Amino acid sequence: MTMQSLSKSIYHNVNYFKAYDTLISHITNKDEVVQLWTEQWKTIMKNISFNPNEGNPIRMLKIGAGDGNHEIGMAKCLLAVHPDVHIKIIEPKEVQLQLCKKTAMDFATSSPGLTFDWHNVTFEKYMTDQRETDVGSFHIVVSCHVLCYLNLVWAIDSMYSMARTDGVVVNTMVTGDSTFGLVGKLFTKLTGCGKHHQHSDDALGYLETKTGKIKRNSREFTVDVTDCFNDSSEEGSLLLDFMTQRTDFRRNAPGNVKKSIMNVLRENTIEKEGMALTRVREEDLVLIK
Ligand SMILES: C[S@@+](CC[C@H](N)C(=O)[O-])C[C@H]1O[C@@H](n2cnc3c(N)ncnc32)[C@H](O)[C@@H]1O
Repeated sequence: MTMQSLSKSIYHNVNYFKAYDTLISHITNKDEVVQLWTEQWKTIMKNISFNPNEGNPIRMLKIGAGDGNHEIGMAKCLLAVHPDVHIKIIEPKEVQLQLCKKTAMDFATSSPGLTFDWHNVTFEKYMTDQRETDVGSFHIVVSCHVLCYLNLVWAIDSMYSMARTDGVVVNTMVTGDSTFGLVGKLFTKLTGCGKHHQHSDDALGYLETKTGKIKRNSREFTVDVTDCFNDSSEEGSLLLDFMTQRTDFRRNAPGNVKKSIMNVLRENTIEKEGMALTRVREEDLVLIK
């Protein structure tokens, strides 16, 4: 394998969101995770200090759009504690921004206190263009599985600077010790390419240098990876691409890398009702300024 194909990031591939959606559709305990997430977010909201009599909305900055449902979930938690909520969304991929916009705006029509503004740019570009007007103005600054695409130290510094002095900064990332983390670490070790393989343990070390209190919430997904063990399955290929964050892992990876990655995946898989299931843990690193 050439160095070029080794380091070819999946993020720049047209199949990036197809691979991401494939991963989401292979999660078998989605309802349970959403329920836990909702409870945990209600608790995070309790750490935001705001004065309901101030008349100003709660301001949230979300870096990297979800499919809209993620944003609605957060908006619901915020609207439960304050009548007015404004969410600013930064997302460089037009198609993802439009998807998020449609779902979130449909919900906003029946929630008069909820407003949005949308920015089809990278976080880096937003920080260059808008930093001065928005710095220190958000009650809550959130990224969910986005930090791995950014320079981690720069991104944490930037998010911290955008939060108010009494604000909260939340980063959700995969943990280094559950299956996807183990795969990412092994891939980095075997190939020397660590691009997009930062995990919550990497971010925690830097967050601890910041002033504030850190709280951690974690959730465990069960992912059906049966297709990964079927060489002719396209879904299996897409899942492996997302796990390794590389384009066409099956075709591009040399035999020894492929074998080692498949071994670690198998070792962390249990058989149940004809499915090969693995566990992936994500955690919210909540920094209360
Ligand atoms: C794995 S997806 C997560 C999407 C969403 N936050 C969620 O959790 O469902 C990563 C997202 O980060 C966005 N992203 C990647 N690089 C970015 C950057 N430089 N600035 C802002 N967002 C970025 C991608 O376009 C994509 O929407």
